Amino acid sequence: MNIMQRLTFAGLLVCAVPAALANPGSATTVAAGPTSNREWRLIGGGAYEQHYSPLKQVNDATVGTLGLAWYADMPTTDGLTGVPLVAGGVVYQSGALGMVWAHDLKTGKLLWSYDAKIRFPTGLVASWGARLSRGLALWQDTVLKATGDCRLIALNRRTGTRLWEAQSCDPLAYKTITGAPRVGAGKVFIGNSNADSGVGRGFVDAYDIGTGKHLWRFYTIPGDPAQPFENPAMEMASKTWGKDYWKHSGGGSPWEGITYDPKTNLVYIGTDGPAPFAPTTRESGGGDELFTNAIVAVNADTGAYVWHYSTTPGDGWNYAATMPVVIADLVIGGAQRHVILSAPKNGFFYVLDARNGKLVNEPKPILPVNWASRIDMKTGRPVLTQDAKYWEKGKEGAVVSPSPMGAHNWMPMSYSPETGLVYIPVTDYPVHASVDWANSVGRVDIDFYYALTHHLSFKGTLLAWDPVKQEARWRHDVGPPYEGGTLSTAGNLVFQGTTTGTFNAYRADTGERVWSYPTASGILGAPSTVEVSGRQYILVAAGSGTTSAVGFATRFSGRASGPPRLLAFALNGSAKLPATAAVAETFPQPPAPLADAAVIARGKALWDENGCELCHGVGAIGGLGSVGDLRRTNAATYDLFADIVRGGLYKDAGMPVFADAITDADLPALKAYLISVAWQAYREAPQAP
Ligand code: HEC
Repeated sequence: MNIMQRLTFAGLLVCAVPAALANPGSATTVAAGPTSNREWRLIGGGAYEQHYSPLKQVNDATVGTLGLAWYADMPTTDGLTGVPLVAGGVVYQSGALGMVWAHDLKTGKLLWSYDAKIRFPTGLVASWGARLSRGLALWQDTVLKATGDCRLIALNRRTGTRLWEAQSCDPLAYKTITGAPRVGAGKVFIGNSNADSGVGRGFVDAYDIGTGKHLWRFYTIPGDPAQPFENPAMEMASKTWGKDYWKHSGGGSPWEGITYDPKTNLVYIGTDGPAPFAPTTRESGGGDELFTNAIVAVNADTGAYVWHYSTTPGDGWNYAATMPVVIADLVIGGAQRHVILSAPKNGFFYVLDARNGKLVNEPKPILPVNWASRIDMKTGRPVLTQDAKYWEKGKEGAVVSPSPMGAHNWMPMSYSPETGLVYIPVTDYPVHASVDWANSVGRVDIDFYYALTHHLSFKGTLLAWDPVKQEARWRHDVGPPYEGGTLSTAGNLVFQGTTTGTFNAYRADTGERVWSYPTASGILGAPSTVEVSGRQYILVAAGSGTTSAVGFATRFSGRASGPPRLLAFALNGSAKLPATAAVAETFPQPPAPLADAAVIARGKALWDENGCELCHGVGAIGGLGSVGDLRRTNAATYDLFADIVRGGLYKDAGMPVFADAITDADLPALKAYLISVAWQAYREAPQAP
């Protein structure tokens, strides 16, 4: 099977993050939560990634006076997805295309910026991944940053100068890094992504933070059994795959959740699914295909396997389990339990014993799920239904819920020890999936907009979930699918931004919305908070222009056309955002329509098969950030179509070269398809005056 043909789900699937928290004064430990009210050094505040703060100057009684303290326009066209980190009165923000910025916490003044200078051309997957970055980690005086071209970079926190750099994965081998590094035990851990193409083996690398020396690598799936296995876990895993699996299947990308637990000295690695996606297109005779869609615990010092829990064995829906987990100490059944809370894409909520990976209570669905009826407590396995097995239904296909975008994706959930609730950004909409076995080599066609055309649920919700009782406490519809990560605080508040450009606060106990601020820019990442000189700041990064949000943030967030910005809120903040120009919803008149429906359909198939949607959007509806909107492409550019698509004219900007996958004879159909999409946008949009 052609690599490109595996990229079908990839357009909307988004990859990885990590981070950890340095404990000042200690060389090797990290703390569970923020070490100081003045600092937010790790993505989730502390190693437990609870995205929770004990601060309460801003609380459910005072939040009415919360206002903008300052904002900083960021010198980038791509949206921001990472959590703002804070240490020593400085805010550290990660950006797309290898950027890191440091701003003064009190004023928002830019102190330094670092440009990793992404090395294009790097191939399709790395070019895609380079356009999003889920953040940084701070360890003592070091800032850690990973890049789309697979580098891990350590910077001096005070000056932004580079201390060391390591090449973790190979961008030319269909790999990229979109996640944030995570730290603990004096080490930095980094995973990688292949944009769900399933090519190759996922792995996590550990480096010494001080020197950048490579310490260990843990592969998440086995390689060719003719070669020596790296460790006994790989030998065990190889028995769970079909015959000759290493020739055709891959996956297991640890692209997001990698969590260091200072209590167990384990690193919990969340992995992506196997590929190709339809199970019958993978090698027969397989079992659970370890360690895909799993949480795998490895020893932080050696990288040796300790336990795993497989959330979706035999996956057909790309139900990754690489969403960031939360570590917590809960009283369950009268006993104190050290647990991992996980809301993977598959729609169930898991509470696992952190020491052995066993289920602590029965996982329950957080939204309507149709692929499994329940999780069996005896076996720990899902009980599958027939409903979502689209591969058995061929062209007719099946409705699948949750979608391959996941009930929950990478946007962080938070856990408040005060309320005992987990606040999850839930994406609630079914899709339709089918395989035209007669005319394709098993490519899964997904209609991501099926719910809209069939009046099914199509929304992003904020869910307050009780992990002990495994039930919902409250739930709010907050907008279209795919909304921002959450922060909860001891002020009885939960903060969440939306892709449609509002920043909201809810009462953590009841869910009542108590504050809302129009940010003009869409928000996907989670906020952070610190208190310095008696003033509590709530920080959030905004700007929806990134490939990570293509297709949703673009189609529905017309209002959120504001630029990438860092926003800092505080009580009585009185700064004002400049008015954002109305979105250019008008489209220029496209070149003359080229062809009949059959040719256009052929062009659409080429579009889907070649992964164009990864960067330019599902159905060519996209174009935010550093990738232009093809619906606005003019006739002069179409004259260069062959040079752009096959000739590599824009390869230095990261437009892949499709010389092998697309022939000259294919180009007219592809062009006809794009022009037809442009005409549709032109006809539907209000006409330019
Ligand atoms: C990995 C990301 C990526 C993928 C995948 C991708 N492109 Fe691009 N494309 C870009 C970038 C980056 C540019 C240059 C920036 C820009 O002008 O949009 C670009 C530019 C273009 C342009 C010129 C647009 C203009 O108006 O100047 C066309 C046409 C185009 N791409 C078509 C395609 C087609 C067709 C496919 C699939 C066969 C595809 N692209 C896949 C990233 C991508």
